[in-house]
Amino acid sequence: MKFPKGFYWGAATASYQVEGFNENCDWAKAGKEGKVPLAGRLADHYHRYEEDFDIAKELGHNAHRFSIEWGRIEPQEGVFDEQEIEHYRQVLKALKKRKITPFITLWHFTLPLWFSESGGFERKDAPVLFARYCAFVVRELGDLCDHYATINEPNVYATHGYLYGAWPPFKRASIFGKKIGKEDGTSERTGAKASFRHVWQYLRVSDNLARAHNAAYDAIKEVRPGAQVSVVKHVHYFYSNWNPVNKLKAKLATYFQTYRFMNRVIEHSDSIGLNFYRSTPFGIREEYTYTDMGWKVTPGHILGALRVLARYKKPIFVAEAGLADKEDVIRADYITKQVNAVQKALEDGIDVRGHIYWSLIDNYEWALGTQKQFGLVHIDYKTLKRTIRDSAWKYKELIEKYSGVETRRTKKSK
Ligand code: BGC
Repeated sequence: MKFPKGFYWGAATASYQVEGFNENCDWAKAGKEGKVPLAGRLADHYHRYEEDFDIAKELGHNAHRFSIEWGRIEPQEGVFDEQEIEHYRQVLKALKKRKITPFITLWHFTLPLWFSESGGFERKDAPVLFARYCAFVVRELGDLCDHYATINEPNVYATHGYLYGAWPPFKRASIFGKKIGKEDGTSERTGAKASFRHVWQYLRVSDNLARAHNAAYDAIKEVRPGAQVSVVKHVHYFYSNWNPVNKLKAKLATYFQTYRFMNRVIEHSDSIGLNFYRSTPFGIREEYTYTDMGWKVTPGHILGALRVLARYKKPIFVAEAGLADKEDVIRADYITKQVNAVQKALEDGIDVRGHIYWSLIDNYEWALGTQKQFGLVHIDYKTLKRTIRDSAWKYKELIEKYSGVETRRTKKSK
């Protein structure tokens, strides 16, 4: 079976993780304070996007997801930078020139300093401020791009920032005196003090993020009614054996992890972006291999995650799914299984419109720095040389097989 005509195939990046020198934000400040790794130049994608898009084209991609850095566009409250808008216009034109459809994420974790220092998403007026920024971007870029996601992974942001204390603003929660935290050590490194109060702040921020999405949706539609607006939701897939108690556990976990937020924003979403990485069984013992993140290798479970979102009966784009695999030993097989599972979802009648791998190039994996390598393309951070990994060619083969569109391999490629 071929995938539907017009299916989107590609890979994603996010501004702070690849652009380099995004200094006007909470993460850069935290880097200088030694709470998270410094980012610095990274892959210098801000200047090398043409080279990276040439590679994406060569790899057969017809879509690319990237994010706009809020701190560049609105460096001070209410002050918008036309030069930076022009930069992203050039980025969009570079994609258009290569016939690659852009998917913009308006906010992917990093906050402008003026916003984070004044309370960030704890601010009562955060939804209004966020909506104003989103509407500005869509007004300026709307002639070059149709697809916009407002927020990337609201739950991941709130959990890491307000429960684990591993990411800005480094608030760690404790319940009955027991600290909540990440087992990878990042919660400890930041020295965040744990408090039960942060649980309330977490709930408040989660709530504000849903309101921010809804306000942004309305504001975007006002300036550009034809724009397609989504939210990108990370779905952790929970499943269980026959045992009713385990079934209940899986249901509750799914409710708190996914449905609770989605129910609040679905009326304001034209489609849904799915980010899938992980799954957890209840009452089932299985043997696993693990990625470089220490995450179980379960690419086929993307089908379960798609089923979780299918209840909303909206088009779904796989906006991110992939793995850290520095040596590139399991990535090809992983992608193959993942794509097969997406095919199964289509056969089941789920309206999947695209498959965007995370990530196009190696990047800054947040509190874990540049050691975890998700890229289809390896980056040598000293020389900035880009090297296409073998698995990227496998992904290209799958794209050709399923889309039925032969994309020619240029001389440069092999
Ligand atoms: C995020 C990315 C991140 C990836 C791998 C997603 O949670 O959107 O920024 O790099 O997962 O951890």
